[in-house]
Amino acid sequence: MKHERILITGAGGQLGTVLTVELQKKYGADNVIASDLKLNPDFMGHFEVLDATDFEALKSVVLKYKITQIFHLVAILSANGEKFPLNTWDINMKSLFNVLEVSRLHGINKVFYPSSIAVFGEDVEKDNTPQNPNLTPSTVYGMSKVAGENWANYYHKRYGLDVRSLRYPGVIGYQSMPGGGTTDYAVDIYHKAVKNESFECFLEASTHLPMIFIDDAIRATIELMDAPAEEISVRTSYNLSGMSFAPQEVFGVIKKTIPNFEITYKPDFRQGIADSWPNSIDDTQAKKDWGWQPKYNLENMTEVMIEKLRIYYNNKLIA
Ligand code: SER
Repeated sequence: MKHERILITGAGGQLGTVLTVELQKKYGADNVIASDLKLNPDFMGHFEVLDATDFEALKSVVLKYKITQIFHLVAILSANGEKFPLNTWDINMKSLFNVLEVSRLHGINKVFYPSSIAVFGEDVEKDNTPQNPNLTPSTVYGMSKVAGENWANYYHKRYGLDVRSLRYPGVIGYQSMPGGGTTDYAVDIYHKAVKNESFECFLEASTHLPMIFIDDAIRATIELMDAPAEEISVRTSYNLSGMSFAPQEVFGVIKKTIPNFEITYKPDFRQGIADSWPNSIDDTQAKKDWGWQPKYNLENMTEVMIEKLRIYYNNKLIA
């Protein structure tokens, strides 16, 4: 196997925190360089403070460590992005252009670029949304991901760069918090339940959205990146499905374990974003091309979330 050196941008985020650890296990801690705007004091491994919108800074890290693969996780997400639309576009696109260019110019052999269910807008079938419908996103974040998917495809077709991408559903995990997304409620609800607090939900009770447990999301990422290049037929971004549920359903499942848990609903501007997204996703192509199969549904994910967060908060009380 070729000796790989991995750079992760946005490594301090919800996905990056967990993906970094998995890549350290897979490639060895010395071969994984995490980067972000600031260092988390608890981080273990190699870390570079890096603003990925700065091409020269990115290039110097790539050359310093002889990087061969980049996982580019930097992005302003859907809800936060709406507060500063032009800034969001600049950061999301500039950082991607820098990653694509540094990869083209300096011999990177594989790039991972996350896309999102935010690429879909009003024009799609809401249930089992197919791989290739009209993409008319409602948020700047979604617009940047549609453009980004097409740039990924362009670099592959024009320069032969091996860029691979997944359209993540809302990611739910216990190890890290999401920041500024529309699906974030589905993480927060577990924290409130385990802390015996009531939960005020910013979406309506019946708003179905596609979601995925973090273990499945990370495994999908690694399986896609490990797949032989000839099996990758989608060079924009693959639809990816884990599960689909509404706030009232996750509330009901949590209540089986924590019967006193209470919820109220107070929809805000994020309701409009959620309403423009699919209820569920058709990921037949990912299953066919590289054998994708999710392992978690709402019930077994809830078991793990409650168990892990109970351990986390118990230790916090002791510490
Ligand atoms: N979880 C993301 C968000 O809510 C979707 O990609 O913005």
